[in-house]
Amino acid sequence: MSGMGRAFYKHYGLRFPDGVYEPLDDSFLLADQVKVEAGSTVLDLGCGAGLVSLIAAHQGANVTAADINKKALQAATENCRAYGHQIETVETDMFLNISGKYDYVFFNPPYLPHEDMDDQLAKKHPELAKSWDGGAHGRRYIDTFLTQYKGHLNPGGKAYLLNSSLNDITKTQEKLDKQGVKYAIVARTELFFEKLYVFEITG
Ligand SMILES: C[S@@+](CC[C@H](N)C(=O)[O-])C[C@H]1O[C@@H](n2cnc3c(N)ncnc32)[C@H](O)[C@@H]1O
Repeated sequence: MSGMGRAFYKHYGLRFPDGVYEPLDDSFLLADQVKVEAGSTVLDLGCGAGLVSLIAAHQGANVTAADINKKALQAATENCRAYGHQIETVETDMFLNISGKYDYVFFNPPYLPHEDMDDQLAKKHPELAKSWDGGAHGRRYIDTFLTQYKGHLNPGGKAYLLNSSLNDITKTQEKLDKQGVKYAIVARTELFFEKLYVFEITG
């Protein structure tokens, strides 16, 4: 049986089919940071149902939504179209098929430590497991992002990266310190079993 879920953020409603990540607190915390100029370029990496894409498009940005999951790209396209916005989509493993540079890059990564994953649940929902499974200590995609984001930011551009307390955020801070870039934690929230943080990194 396939199904379609609905999620709500402020005055936006989004649909997400089976196999696409349901926009949740992590999505909403990142979405809160979307304040972009009309005409700016935005990459929504790991777009899922496309909440960041939708808000950025609504603010007048030129949006590229990227994901490893085709169903997510379709959902993001349809959710944006429902509000009259056209976006570009790229099927990609992280930045592999991303050639351009952007004014803003947003990323809510799969960040659950692999060791904390429920294997039965992952077997039942392999596409969704890719949304959660962050590899060892949940850092596989965070670390890839931290190595590669700079090559995809315009000068003065900003990257927004979500981390969880499950990921040892001091490792993120150490990597950014080593790069000598300007960064700040611009949003945080406390949930039942974790704290969530959004890093703003200036390229
Ligand atoms: C935690 S979900 C976030 C989805 C959406 N951005 C949100 O905030 O609701 C992570 C997303 O990253 C995508 N993803 C997982 N591995 C990826 C990879 N290697 N390259 C690109 N996207 C990936 C998943 O398919 C999923 O849509």
